[in-house]
Amino acid sequence: MSIIINNTDIAITAVSPSGYPADDLPEVAFVGKSNVGKSSLINAMLGRKRLARTSRQPGKTRTINFFHVERKLYFVDLPGYGYAKVSKSESAKWGEMVESYLKDRPQLRRIFLLLDIRHEPGNNDKMLYDWFMHYNLPFTLIATKSDKLARAQVPRQCAAIRRALSAPELPMPFSSETRQNRDALWSLILDNCGIDVL
Ligand code: GTP
Ligand code: MG
Repeated sequence: MSIIINNTDIAITAVSPSGYPADDLPEVAFVGKSNVGKSSLINAMLGRKRLARTSRQPGKTRTINFFHVERKLYFVDLPGYGYAKVSKSESAKWGEMVESYLKDRPQLRRIFLLLDIRHEPGNNDKMLYDWFMHYNLPFTLIATKSDKLARAQVPRQCAAIRRALSAPELPMPFSSETRQNRDALWSLILDNCGIDVL
């Protein structure tokens, strides 16, 4: 199976709940540290180069962006956390904006917490992980940029991430460059959204 997406666009850009889409389509959200590869993963999944804006500079995505996919679901690109250059008040705003989306959104079917495969999870990652566990939110760990490691290192680093978080499951390695696990991630997303075929 290799899914081809024909119909997608940025449906909505929001900074608060009044701006979220008003329909009832299922949503999947991508969250993680700035620069971890959220927007790139969305582009790779949707087969588009620059639909979600990406950058080498962290802090590119500053709003909640909903991408309408085949009129059946939304991919939700969230701004990253842990970007050193933002002020305290801006990072508080991040918390408010992202947490209220993640916690109070009935349409949200699964959250993908992205972690760079090359690094141990940081404090912000751990806090978010614990927060998901505490609120019993449905989430899956993704280890991004797997192309940056030699193949033999990939399972080792996934195990290290799991250990650091005391997670019950290994993260799924993913690469926006090689598209490793694109199909597996699509299956998971469609499953969680109760969609048989796109
Ligand atoms: P913010 O919007 O700032 O929170 O960042 P983001 O998580 O959306 O990251 P983004 O997708 O903009 O990617 C950040 C940088 O990492 C860019 O230079 C990407 O080209 C690079 N990158 C993202 N994913 C991958 C990947 O799978 N492999 C490699 N080699 N580079 C990647
Ligand atoms: Mg981004």
